[in-house]
Amino acid sequence: MSSTEAACDNLSLIRQRFTQLFGGTARVFRAPGRVNLIGEHTDYNDGFVMPAAISFSTLIAAGLRDDNRLCVYSEKFSETEEWDLASLAPGASGHWSDYVRGVAGVLQSRGHKLRGSNLVIQSSVPVGSGLSSSAAIEVATAFALLGVSGLQIPGAEIALICQQAEHEYAGARVGIMDQFISVHGRKGHALLLDCRSLSFELLAVPPGAQIVICDSRVKHAVSGGEYNQRRAACEIGVVELSKSLPGVKALRDVTPEQLEAHKAHLPDLTYRRCRHVVTEIDRTLRAADALKAADLQLFGRLMYESHRSLRDDYEVSCRELDILVESARQIEGVYGARMTGAGFGGCTVNIVNQAAVPDFRIKVAADYKRAVGVDPNLYVSDAAQGAGECI
Ligand code: GLA
Repeated sequence: MSSTEAACDNLSLIRQRFTQLFGGTARVFRAPGRVNLIGEHTDYNDGFVMPAAISFSTLIAAGLRDDNRLCVYSEKFSETEEWDLASLAPGASGHWSDYVRGVAGVLQSRGHKLRGSNLVIQSSVPVGSGLSSSAAIEVATAFALLGVSGLQIPGAEIALICQQAEHEYAGARVGIMDQFISVHGRKGHALLLDCRSLSFELLAVPPGAQIVICDSRVKHAVSGGEYNQRRAACEIGVVELSKSLPGVKALRDVTPEQLEAHKAHLPDLTYRRCRHVVTEIDRTLRAADALKAADLQLFGRLMYESHRSLRDDYEVSCRELDILVESARQIEGVYGARMTGAGFGGCTVNIVNQAAVPDFRIKVAADYKRAVGVDPNLYVSDAAQGAGECI
C-alpha cells in the first residue's frame, strides 16, 4: 500500500473543519506514531533501533494563504496560534505549538522557502504514552508545509529537520528514531535503522506475530530532565573510554567485551548506563537476525533481556511497566515483552501469537488492575505505512 493509499481516517471531518475556519479546500497529510520493538536509548549513541510505525497518526489539513504567516488550529486544544514565517526564533515554551513552529523555523533556517499557510491538526496518537505523538506532529507538519509550498526534499532530511526542531524548539535532545520511522515506515514491516549512517533495512513482521501495545497510563515527558541526563551519562562514558580506546566517537564503537575490559576507568553508574547501551546495540542486531529467520522465540528472549537492562542498568522503567512485562511473560503464546520508548511510564510492546491475543487482553488487564488499580489501555496494531498525503 502506498502512502497515498494509507488509512486516512476522519478525512472529511478535518477537511470540513478547515473550510469552516479558513475557507477554501485543503490538502491532507498524515504521519504515524511508532512503537519500538527493540533498540532503546541506542539512537543517540549512533547505534541500531528497530521501530515500526503504528496505526495511530496525526492528520494535518493545509492550504496556502496570501501573506507570509503560518496559522495553525489544534482540534485537541481548540486553540489557534499564528506567527510570521520570518520570525520563528528557537526556544521552548512548553506549548503544543512548539513542534509546528519548530519545524517551520528549521525548514526556513535550512533555506527551504515556505509559503504562508493555514493548518488544522488532529491526532489519534495518545499523548505522553511513549508512542511518539510529538514526532507524528513534526513529520505531518513538515509534509504539509513542504507539500503546499511545492517543495520536495529527501525523507532522511525531513527526519533530521524534525529532530532539530525538537532539540531547538522543545528542549528535548532526542535521537533520530521517532522522526525517521514516521517518515519511512512500511506496512507489515519493522525497520532496522543504523542511526549513524541512516541506512536502513525493512524487516517483515512474520505472519502470526501480533504487536500488542499496553499503555500503563503513567504519563511521561521526553523533555523531562531524566532523558537528557541519560544522554549526558553516555557522553561522559565516551569521553572516558576514548582516553584508552582511541577512535571511539560514540558508544556504538565500543563492544560489550571492550566495556568490560575498561570498566575500571568508569564510575559504577556511568558503567551501567554504558553497559545498557552497548549490550542493547548487540541485542538489536541479534534480534534482526532472529526476525529474518522468523525465530520469534529468540526475538522474544532478546526483548525480555532488553527490558531487564533498561530496568536495572539504565533505570528508565517504573513499577507499572515492570508489572505489565511480568504479567505478559506468564501468558502462553507471548514471545516477548518490554517497555518501549523513552520510559519513565508510557507503554510496553509485546509480540504475541495471534491466537493468544484474546487471552492476553483479559489476563494483562486483570493483573494490572489488581496490582495498580487502573485499567491499562491495550492496542493491537499492525506495522503501518509511513507519512504521506491522503488523496
Ligand atoms: C524517545 C526519543 C528517541 C529515543 C527513545 C529511546 O522516544 O525521541 O529518539 O531515544 O526515546 O529509545
